Amino acid sequence: MGKDKLKRFEENKSFSCLYQPDFNEVFRGDYFMKGKWNSGQFQNGNPVVLELGCGRGEYTVELARRFPYKNFIGVDIKGARMWRGAKTVTEEGIPNAAFLRCRIEFAQSAFEFDEVSEIWVTFPDPQKKKSSKRLTSSYFLERYRRFLKDNGIVHLKTDSQFLHRYTLELIKHNKLELIEANDDIYGTGRADALLSVKTRYESQFLSQRMKITYLSFKLRKAGKLTEPEWDPEDL
Ligand SMILES: C[S@@+](CC[C@H](N)C(=O)[O-])C[C@H]1O[C@@H](n2cnc3c(N)ncnc32)[C@H](O)[C@@H]1O
Repeated sequence: MGKDKLKRFEENKSFSCLYQPDFNEVFRGDYFMKGKWNSGQFQNGNPVVLELGCGRGEYTVELARRFPYKNFIGVDIKGARMWRGAKTVTEEGIPNAAFLRCRIEFAQSAFEFDEVSEIWVTFPDPQKKKSSKRLTSSYFLERYRRFLKDNGIVHLKTDSQFLHRYTLELIKHNKLELIEANDDIYGTGRADALLSVKTRYESQFLSQRMKITYLSFKLRKAGKLTEPEWDPEDL
């Protein structure tokens, strides 16, 4: 392992905004922060918003700056990446941002039923070959429903027309309520305070002149979710 990575891992231990459960703390049991993010970390009753697969946490940090009446938690498994976000939050004393180092598959061990109001998924790997690995698949949405409030909002921002189309099909197939869909947010002037935040991946894609898409929908708790019959070759 590189020296820089080791240094970051060491420094991560000192950040009070960064939580790093051991595998066993989330695999079989419940993590001690479950149900306590507002009372234990943020000390307010504001809505909790997650960014899943947050990488360096640019979205988490910037949304926290722009929307002080919401609490933002970035979730990722890569500690060296999250170090960037956690360091900025610590240095600037941003009170409404935190990070959780954990596999998204185990997030239900760290968040209580109805503890979360919104979820952002920013530039995930589109996982073209295996739908269950896509962060907007029915497999993951079923998991999100365990902690997202009924009709809580899921936001997807991606460069992948494939993932954008797939998620739209899934929303239609499961009769979920689509709030908005835009397949070129910069070209259509849609990139407002919420959508103009740029992650590292987004900046790379923009420099390659790729279109950035966005969609949001309400995830209801009731009813089983299933995969759409949709062939990626259709794209
Ligand atoms: C392509 S990167 C995007 C990072 C960031 N959202 C951005 O736009 O710069 C995807 C991120 O998702 C994380 N990730 C993917 N699958 C995950 C999982 N199952 N659990 C936790 N993190 C995951 C990876 O570690 C990686 O940091």
